[in-house]
Order: sequence, then C-alpha cells, then structure tokens
Amino acid sequence: MKAHGILLAGGGGTRLWPLSRGENPKQFMPLGEGPSLLADAFRRALSRVHPSRMVAVTSQGLGWKVRSHLLETPGGELCPVIEEPCRRNTLPAVLAGVLALRDKGARDGDVVFVLPCDHVVGDQLILADAMDQAAEIALAGYLVTFGVEPGHPETGYGYIKTGEPLRGLSGHAVERFEEKPPFERAKAFLEEGGYLWNSGMFCFSLGTFMEQLELVAPSLWGLAGAGLAGLLNAYKDVEPLSFDKGLLEGSHRVAVVPLKTPWSDVGSWDSVYQVTPKDQEGNASRGSARFEGCRGCLAVSSRRRLVLMGLEDVMVVDGEDAVLVIRRGLSQRVGQVAEEEKGER
Ligand code: GDD
Ligand code: MG
Repeated sequence: MKAHGILLAGGGGTRLWPLSRGENPKQFMPLGEGPSLLADAFRRALSRVHPSRMVAVTSQGLGWKVRSHLLETPGGELCPVIEEPCRRNTLPAVLAGVLALRDKGARDGDVVFVLPCDHVVGDQLILADAMDQAAEIALAGYLVTFGVEPGHPETGYGYIKTGEPLRGLSGHAVERFEEKPPFERAKAFLEEGGYLWNSGMFCFSLGTFMEQLELVAPSLWGLAGAGLAGLLNAYKDVEPLSFDKGLLEGSHRVAVVPLKTPWSDVGSWDSVYQVTPKDQEGNASRGSARFEGCRGCLAVSSRRRLVLMGLEDVMVVDGEDAVLVIRRGLSQRVGQVAEEEKGER
C-alpha cells in the first residue's frame, strides 16, 4: 500500500490566549510530547507514511515556521509546505494537499491520511493500528474518520453516529455526522449512546475523495481541473468549507474506525491541565514553577519562573504581553475575552 499524508497546519486557535495568537497558533505550541504539536503530528505520521509522500498545508506567512518545526525531525526536509493565499477552512486545504500529492505522483488508488496538527494522542501504537484499519476501509471506497469514545458533552467536536459494522472490515458505517452540536444536544447524544467524537483525522483513497467531492461540493471540485496552481489562484473566491460540514455531512460513504486511546484537541487551558502530568496535590506545570500550599493548579510559562501560593483550582498563564489568571472550568470563555482584548494594553 502506498500511503500519503497531508498535515493541516493553518488554523488560528484563540482559546489558548495569551500564548496562542495569530502568528503563534496552537500547532506551534509544545503542548504534547515534542517541541510542538506540529512536530508531534509529523512524528506520528512517520509511523505509516514516508516523509517524501507528505505535504503540509498552512496559511500565508506561516510557511517558514512550519518548515522550521518540521526540521526538528529527520525527514522533515522532504515534506513540502504549501501556503494558502488566505484561510478557507479545511476542505479547500485538503484539496490543495491532494493536488500537491498528485503532482508528486499520487494515484487514485493510493491512500491519503489527513492529519491535523492540533491535538495529542495517548498511544502511538494504537493510532498506528487504527491507521492500518482505516487504510483498508478507505480502499473499499469510504471516507474514513477516527472515532473517540466521548468523555463529556463537548460542544467543540463533531459527533459520529455509528451505523452497521462493515462486513469483513474492522470499522462501522456512519449513520450520521453532526459537527459541533449545542450542549443539550451533545448531552442527549451521550445519553442515547452510539456516538463517537470525530478526532479530526481522516483517511481516504485519492479517487474516493475526488468522487465524493464532485458529488457533495461540485463547485470546489470544479477548481481541481486547473491543478494546484489554478486552485491557489482562485483561492480568494473559494467558499470557506470545513472537511466535516462541507464533505462528511453530505456524503453517504463515511465510515469510522475506533481510536481507543486517550485523545484531546487541547483546545482550552482546562484541557491542557487535563493532559499535563500532576504532582500529588494535582498541580501541573509547563515551564519552571513552584507550588506552595496549592491544589489543582496549572502554571504555564515559557520564560519566567512562576510561584503560586495558597491557591486552589487556579490556572496562571504567562504570555509575552499579557498574563491570564483564571479559575479552572471557565476556560471555554477565553476565546471571547481574547477577541475583546485585541488592541488593549
Ligand atoms: N491549512 C489550513 N487552512 N489548515 C487549517 C485551516 C485552514 O484554513 N483551518 C484549520 N486548519 C487546521 C488546524 O490547524 C487543525 O490542525 C485542523 O486543520 C483542524 O481545524 P480546526 O479549526 O482546529 O477544527 P476544529 O477543531 O474546529 O474541528 C475539527 O477538529 C475536531 C477535533 O479536534 C473537526 O474535524 C471536528 O469535527 C473535530 O471534532
Ligand atoms: Mg481543532
């Protein structure tokens, strides 16, 4: 099997303010095991894809940064980086990646993995197994998602309603896909059962992707005829579409493989706290910190030492030009505050 990979590295990420910014989005932050989430994603991909068969797609102006993070790992120099002229969400970015892979010799029957660069995965070996299963299902003509058992009614994820098991393959058909439902609906999904979180990783054969794109998003598909250069030229007029809403929700060829390992998109300071190792009092730190009489706290700093005393369930994040001090459990609201803080000093 010839497998290819598309690293999606162009998102914004404002909920991790004040560290995540326009020029320093989440994928460049060291929230996982390696120097950045992007480097971690590249290393995970290497277990199944040779670096010469990968491309990274990012936003204009971020190409040099993506390149430098890829170079942290041997083989990174073999992965070209495409800069989109503007941000048009993940479906056009995946199409750009697919067209670049085609230029590098990828054929309709080849398998492609789409790998976001903004999450942490607990066990790499379990992921590699799931990638093998997904590749088999992809070759049977499906757009394959990787489904995680939901732990709480998260409103920031897509939900996959599993259907019938696929005959002879270790996955399920997808009955329905619903992107980012409101809280009450997410709660009902968990009560009803049979739903999985969409982890944001995808796998398909190049041919199936193009065929489903033609059916579900014909105007975007129409731009593929002019190749990668043509697509990028027309990019400003492309409708922003996510892979999930723009393709999966409208396709009848979606399947899911279970991803049975801890997974998080570390999209908020509360989830950073959850994935960070803790001392006996449940305090966690990234960077140099000291806790005196604290319980359940998080300290994050890349420059200065932080000292926290007598605090409970408080998170302190030391940024370049702003410091966030917040009670645990409130971090979903940081994105809104970050928007309002733009331009303040
Ligand atoms: N190149 C490029 N261009 N990459 C992008 C763009 C873009 O315009 N927009 C987002 N990305 C990248 C992000 O950097 C990230 O690695 C990945 O694509 C996913 O985009 P997000 O914007 O982070 O998506 P999301 O988190 O809101 O939702 C997706 O991921 C969830 C899991 O983390 C969906 O797939 C959900 O269904 C899923 O649950
Ligand atoms: Mg995300």
